[in-house]
Amino acid sequence: VPVKTLDWSDGVLSIIDQTLLPIEFKHIDLKSREDVWTAIKELKVRGAPAIGVCAAFGVLVGVHEVNPQTSAESITAACETADYLATSRPTAVNLFWALDRMRHCLSGLEDSANSSDDVWKGLEAEAIAIWDHDRKICRDLGKHGAALISDGDGVLTHCNAGGLATSDYGTALAVMYKAHENGTSFQVFADETRPLLQGARLTAWELQQAKIDVTLICDNMAAQVMREGKIQLVVTGADRIALNGDAANKIGTYGVALLAKAHDIPFYIAAPSSTFDTEMATGDSIPIENRDSREITHGFGAQTGPDDIQVYNPAFDVTPNSLISGIVTEGGVLMPPFTESIHQFLSEYSLHV
Ligand code: MRU
Repeated sequence: VPVKTLDWSDGVLSIIDQTLLPIEFKHIDLKSREDVWTAIKELKVRGAPAIGVCAAFGVLVGVHEVNPQTSAESITAACETADYLATSRPTAVNLFWALDRMRHCLSGLEDSANSSDDVWKGLEAEAIAIWDHDRKICRDLGKHGAALISDGDGVLTHCNAGGLATSDYGTALAVMYKAHENGTSFQVFADETRPLLQGARLTAWELQQAKIDVTLICDNMAAQVMREGKIQLVVTGADRIALNGDAANKIGTYGVALLAKAHDIPFYIAAPSSTFDTEMATGDSIPIENRDSREITHGFGAQTGPDDIQVYNPAFDVTPNSLISGIVTEGGVLMPPFTESIHQFLSEYSLHV
């Protein structure tokens, strides 16, 4: 297993604090709903699927915190926690998907649960099912995507769509982990991913741990590295995919997709069914998170912009479907036209979750 991002044991939720990587590898316990909200907001736990799994267990943390005596009190605490956690970050749809699953489970428990213990057991089983599901589908996704990588390839990725962004195996990096397990020999180029450096701090670290050949580059080097012929494939993750295939991912992904097009390099997205937004026809209405200006002017302690400068800090961008060669999912690699392939995939797979 590349890395176990979070754990749930004896009713305690713990995560790797990703803000400390790669300098320190440390687990922290999330003991209150505020702890969970803050961990998501501050990117201690991040990456679309991992946020969803963490929020599902976060609902249990919120119930435990109020020590409910009746099933009604438990249900109220769970609903309030789910509503609260939904306000932590706006772009990754997996957060809302996981919370909706917990809410759906709760509405069943409203009729069947006789005690706070019944509610707890029902919610815990659902959160564990979400967690298990994520582990399984990342492996399925890796199996489907591994064939995209050939011996001798250079593969570029942006941000971190690895074990750290999921329960343990990743989406874009699952493709690489599986190709590596299959004995394919290839080289990964990891964009550092300004401003929070998920590529440098997390992807480079994770692949190095897994003994995969990885080279770190600054975001603005990608065009030159492509021009030098070092990249044969780009694979990134996604935070939300519209029904026409437009895909939101970490800021800078759209630029990488444009560069790939200009160099005739295939550009793939890897994402599970929980990343598709069945209510969004195109990417135009995907909410884009805006983050604190200090991430740009005071990144990692050093001041790198003038005092009182205006800053714009969108954390995600949307890559239009025309730039995407295919979408690797747990059900196979979806090819254009995406409106049809996504529809077919979701009608087969979203029923099985
Ligand atoms: O802001 P982050 O670090 O949560 O952004 C993460 C990404 O953009 C990932 O590429 C995406 O969530 C896919 S993770 C499998």
